[in-house]
Amino acid sequence: MAKRDYPLAKVYGLLEPGPVVLLATAGKARPNLMTLSWLTMVEFVPPLVACVLSDRDYSHGLLKKYRDCTLNIPTSELAEQVVAVGNCSGRDIDKFQAFGLTPKPAARVAAPLIEECYASLECRVYDTRMVNKYGLFVLEVIQAWVDTAVKNPKTLHHRGKGVFMVAGETIRLESGML
Ligand SMILES: Cc1cc2nc3c(=O)[nH]c(=O)nc-3n(C[C@H](O)[C@H](O)[C@H](O)COP(=O)(O)O)c2cc1C
Repeated sequence: MAKRDYPLAKVYGLLEPGPVVLLATAGKARPNLMTLSWLTMVEFVPPLVACVLSDRDYSHGLLKKYRDCTLNIPTSELAEQVVAVGNCSGRDIDKFQAFGLTPKPAARVAAPLIEECYASLECRVYDTRMVNKYGLFVLEVIQAWVDTAVKNPKTLHHRGKGVFMVAGETIRLESGML
């Protein structure tokens, strides 16, 4: 491999685990949405997910206030909406209406599910100890919804600056441990 020096500012694009999700929060006037790609699993059961939300995002304050959200996993058909949602703020507009996405009531949290996404996870805030320093919320998934008819979800994986890798092919290895 002919590897070359690579800018540190671009490293995140190599390591981002993805998939890109749409994080929905409840709100007094209306629910909100943001695009989020900085997330990682931190525990199997209960499923815990760490997410970084900038304190400049309106969603950051909503998540602190309402203490629950949904993580909705879009596939490539929604790529344009994913980018659009991530380039404006719910302070100014109703993103569900603006981008043709449908909020559906969740079973166990106040935040809505997004109908158009093939999987939706209802989460409550589990640990806020790193919120002030890093904007890092640890969420507990308390209810999961998946359309299992979607066999090879073409999820989006952000490589930076509007470039995405699209997943799709599934391979199964007998020796897989997990
Ligand atoms: C592909 C993509 C990935 C993003 N990932 C994150 C992220 O992981 N954390 C974050 O704070 N903002 C992320 N953003 C930016 C937010 O989605 C953006 O600031 C959004 O407009 C915030 O909306 P809000 O003010 O309504 O909360 C991402 C944007 C895009 C387009």
